[in-house]
Amino acid sequence: MTGRIHQWPSWPEFGVENSLSSDRYSVSEPNQTYNDKYYQEAKKAVITEYGPENLKEAWIRVCKQLESVTNEIISQGTGIIPVCSADAVEKGFSLEELARIKKTGCVVVREVIPKEEARAIYKEIHNYIKDNRDVICSWPADAPYMFEVYDSPMQNAIRSNPRHLKLQRLLNNVWHYNTTEGDTSSDPLIFYDGVRDRPPGQYFLGLGPHIDAGSLARWSGPKYRKVYEAIFSGHPEDYDAWDLEIRKEAEQDFYKAPPHTRVLRSFQGWTALTSSGRREGCILLYPNIKSSIAYVLLRPFFRPPKDEADIMNASKWTFDDSDSTHFFPGSDIEQSQRLSRSSHPHLRLEECLVHVPQIDPGDTVWWHTDLCHAVDPEQTGAEHASVAFIPSCPTTSVNKVYVKKQLEDTLAGRQPEDMQGKVNEQLFKGYQKHTVLSEEARRAFGYYF
Ligand SMILES: [Fe+2]
Repeated sequence: MTGRIHQWPSWPEFGVENSLSSDRYSVSEPNQTYNDKYYQEAKKAVITEYGPENLKEAWIRVCKQLESVTNEIISQGTGIIPVCSADAVEKGFSLEELARIKKTGCVVVREVIPKEEARAIYKEIHNYIKDNRDVICSWPADAPYMFEVYDSPMQNAIRSNPRHLKLQRLLNNVWHYNTTEGDTSSDPLIFYDGVRDRPPGQYFLGLGPHIDAGSLARWSGPKYRKVYEAIFSGHPEDYDAWDLEIRKEAEQDFYKAPPHTRVLRSFQGWTALTSSGRREGCILLYPNIKSSIAYVLLRPFFRPPKDEADIMNASKWTFDDSDSTHFFPGSDIEQSQRLSRSSHPHLRLEECLVHVPQIDPGDTVWWHTDLCHAVDPEQTGAEHASVAFIPSCPTTSVNKVYVKKQLEDTLAGRQPEDMQGKVNEQLFKGYQKHTVLSEEARRAFGYYF
């Protein structure tokens, strides 16, 4: 089996609670902030709306689904992740590719930017960061390699590349939406995010298995909860992960915190600027979209059996509708949704969280906003592992409002609202205004609304 992680890193565990006294959060993160009331309300809201019997039925069905889902991932490893050649950008995804993307929730598209061009962009952005290093914010503090630069000419060159925009549209069209009314469409909108430039040898544990686009918000937000109605109603096999109409209003930022953006990304994504592979600062994905998120959503309503030997037997778990307990493993409202082996055992994370295949400059990796992923703690490569974070975002009312404000901020020298940066990038050495954007790119950047 290929793709399995070399040795499970010491990412935090979020606990398997076997008694009322130990059922909060991982002891490894004692300082996380939470408010009991939010969790009580979220639990009560779901149970009141959907009822215990539906939740119990869903739990048994999802755990059963996961038996075959995990066996398939384990047998195929990295090979289960669909990989499309450069042609896909012009031709569109084949029916087979589309089916695999919809099943796994992820895709690698090769050579969106020609390799040599991507290499050249890397050199430029590496120097741009170096030239402005004293004013660019970055993290982690001890060995920074995530750079809070959003409006560099190099990022904008990639974002506005016609092939990149075409692919963003293609990815938006994996989702379905009402084409006859409203202003929802697959027209791409640009969401500003940063750059990673990770040197060889840098170990990093900070981004273990997690799902972005909110955490407790998935249960608390009335519109967000609605997205998962089929799951909570007891028939998770009917859950449609690709329904943009219902998802576009979801309150991803129901609790305001830095990791949560209101912008719906049809796919989170990165564009590689250098080569990287397994154990080389790459990304790991959990290549299943339907059963995995259903399991994460149902998990807080069930308590594990006392005997560890029964952990994988879903029928031995106990439905917990007590008002006094409200354990949402890994759901810190100020963080993305986090997962761990002990808190989410049926996902078999250790075996099913797999590396993406070897990536070359100009290749792109995309994953659904509900997909569990992690940054490889190891960087044993010979060169820097560098990517530009560029997602695909459809046109929706919510996204338009954000992108309009993002552009206003950018033109005024402010960093994007969700990034909460305080630096004026227009003062950077080498900064260029948006003078070379095509009409198509200007639309995506929000110039016409
Ligand atoms: Fe993430």
